[in-house]
Amino acid sequence: MRTIAVINQKGGVGKTTTTANLAHAFAIKGHSVTGIDMDPQGHLAAHWGCYRRDANGVDQVLLGEKTIPQVAISARERLHLVPAGEGLKEIERGKGDDLLADRLKEALSLVANTQDFTFIDCPPASGLLIDYVLSAADEVIIPVAADYLALRGLSDIIETVRKFEQQFEKTFTYWVVVTRFHTRRKLSWEVRDKLLEYFPDNMLATSIREATVLAECPSFGKTAFEYKGANFGAYDYASLARDLLNGECYRGQE
Ligand SMILES: Nc1ncnc2c1ncn2[C@@H]1O[C@H](COP(=O)(O)OP(=O)(O)O)[C@@H](O)[C@H]1O
Ligand SMILES: [Mg+2]
Repeated sequence: MRTIAVINQKGGVGKTTTTANLAHAFAIKGHSVTGIDMDPQGHLAAHWGCYRRDANGVDQVLLGEKTIPQVAISARERLHLVPAGEGLKEIERGKGDDLLADRLKEALSLVANTQDFTFIDCPPASGLLIDYVLSAADEVIIPVAADYLALRGLSDIIETVRKFEQQFEKTFTYWVVVTRFHTRRKLSWEVRDKLLEYFPDNMLATSIREATVLAECPSFGKTAFEYKGANFGAYDYASLARDLLNGECYRGQE
């Protein structure tokens, strides 16, 4: 099982959109996939149309009260959702406890034989929840919106990842994904080329274009694959899934 955390402390960069659509892309391809909603706001659940206020969730897994199969719900064929749960907010505000990180890791190891991918949608913050996630994950996807503030804060994320690598003596595979790419905006192309200077070997080949379908589908509880036939959003996320399977990186404009 590949356990992939989707992180960026900025909001609105496409973390949830990427988790929701990429996870669904893999499920459609025939893989068994779990999405963990690590954002107390429950956006992943809402995006998949499965939000319930009183749902059991990853909060109980962190507290050692439940296992992942006990709280996971079926979101689509081959696609499971572990909701955030009402207690996650409180855990986020807590004092921090290594035991919680160990429990998440342990809970994930128990489902490793049954799942091909677990995607963890993270909150727009760099607090305790991210620490717990990074203790348990082995890969990181960093969605970066192709706008002029994109590069700000990126070094913080890389620093956090490095800190965890030292602390846990492991190496993350990390991927930068360009999101909200406006093909007709010069700035988008410039930002992408700038990112390539920083991450020559870590940018996935596909950039996710700004697409109305991606902005609209969460309010219907759908992914791009369930929306009005062929569309850019579905095309780009299917292509990104292939990149992630093959480690296909962006090498600059042809
Ligand atoms: N490629 C895109 N094209 C159009 N709208 C997008 C795209 N990616 C994200 N959005 C929209 O932008 C908003 C923020 O995206 P979201 O995935 O929730 O970001 P985050 O989880 O990082 O806060 C949402 O309303 C979402 O529908
Ligand atoms: Mg989000």
